Amino acid sequence: MASNKRTPMIAGNWKMHLTSKEAADLAAAMKKGLDPDLKHEVLLAPTFTALHAVNAVLAGSKIFLSSQDVAWEEKGAFTGAVAPSQIKDAGCTHAIIGHSERRKIFLETDEVINKKMKAAIKANIVPVLCIGETLEERESQKTYRVLETQLVGAFAGISAAEAAKVVIAYEPVWAIGTGKTATPDQAQDAHTFVRKQMERIYGKGYADAVRILYGGSVKAENIDELMAQPDIDGALVGGESLKADKFLRVIHFQAALSR
Ligand code: PGA
Repeated sequence: MASNKRTPMIAGNWKMHLTSKEAADLAAAMKKGLDPDLKHEVLLAPTFTALHAVNAVLAGSKIFLSSQDVAWEEKGAFTGAVAPSQIKDAGCTHAIIGHSERRKIFLETDEVINKKMKAAIKANIVPVLCIGETLEERESQKTYRVLETQLVGAFAGISAAEAAKVVIAYEPVWAIGTGKTATPDQAQDAHTFVRKQMERIYGKGYADAVRILYGGSVKAENIDELMAQPDIDGALVGGESLKADKFLRVIHFQAALSR
């Protein structure tokens, strides 16, 4: 079981799904179904256009609001980009940064991700930094090297104090949306490696405290065994987070109330 020092976090990434109305309805169902005694953090990441509507629904609840991305500049001629202050204005406290779909489809580099990390931190937005290897990289034994490069790149020039609130999500690309979840052992192994890297960068105190979520085909059926791993501190959930009953089961994973 994860260390009691680290507050678990379960995050729903709704990707490019749902209208504002649909997102608001789903958020309302989450708010209604949440155990009032739940101690850990719950985060919803709707698409940009639904942020305002979901924020209105979440008022008075303990659920946090996140964007799925954020720009690295505050304002100006950046057509299509959304600034940290703008996501804050929409009610966000968190921003997902460096999701593998942003890396692969929108060609985001570690350098761009680093700039977004810095911009979010400066605006007091908590970055949920995503890292993870592709199937090809795993099969050619490059997993550790890829994770190390992504971590070093993302945290370049960021002090331990600035990095304090960052949440890391380990999401093996081959497990995202494929139904092929990493086994609890595979995930635990990668999380241990990530924690070791963070110790190397910022020291043991930081590494012990940083939360590392697992993402990639997390389901109501596999969350309990994933959360039973000592270095898995939560989950970043895509497809399953679009179904209220299933996602509520993920949020209320076994032992959630006793942590
Ligand atoms: P998935 O997506 O749960 O649908 O695999 C996870 C993610 O991309 O964050």
